Amino acid sequence: MNALEALHTRTSCARLTEPAPSPEELDNICRAAVRAADHALLTPWRFLCIRGPSLDKLGDLFVAASLEADSTLGEAKIASIRLKPHRAPLIIVTVAKHQTHPKVPPFEMDLSAAAATQNMLLAAHAQGLGGMWRTGSMAYNDTVKKGLGLRDNENITGFLYLGSRSVPPRKLSPALLTDYFLDW
Ligand SMILES: Cc1cc2nc3c(=O)[nH]c(=O)nc-3n(C[C@H](O)[C@H](O)[C@H](O)COP(=O)(O)O)c2cc1C
Repeated sequence: MNALEALHTRTSCARLTEPAPSPEELDNICRAAVRAADHALLTPWRFLCIRGPSLDKLGDLFVAASLEADSTLGEAKIASIRLKPHRAPLIIVTVAKHQTHPKVPPFEMDLSAAAATQNMLLAAHAQGLGGMWRTGSMAYNDTVKKGLGLRDNENITGFLYLGSRSVPPRKLSPALLTDYFLDW
């Protein structure tokens, strides 16, 4: 798939299965991430790859965080929270790192981390893999951030779920570009 085709056809996939990206595919995904646009070349991001038993550890962390917020959660709800990381064989967590800079506000560091995440989605799609960018309350939860080892100046841009598509991509209707683009 060439670059334009990947850009024009990417869709998310909520149900991802084995096989996970191969080492070579993952290397391509990681190399795409670090080519994100980056004001002042601050590399304001880092990434955590979570797979295998670490998916269970992340599930436990989600449960601990959810129980802190609501200790009355029932067993079925707890079980469903614990399984959330297993919606894909690999999760890459994008961590945005804020630093003090005279010209670059922290918001732009978040934008660069978001661009890195989108690059990874596209690199996955270009290789025939599926992906989905998720956040939800767990991305903004202090217990989760601490459990993943984030520092005070770091936040979670997204959990990027990656794997093989279990369902075909949804059909896209062509976007009406005039809804979004105007000559000014
Ligand atoms: C920052 C960000 C966070 C997102 N978080 C979630 C989420 O937690 N759950 C979800 O269902 N979709 C989430 N999405 C949306 C999906 O990743 C996806 O883009 C959306 O379902 C549209 O599908 P498409 O990518 O195929 O167009 C998020 C997207 C972004 C950019």
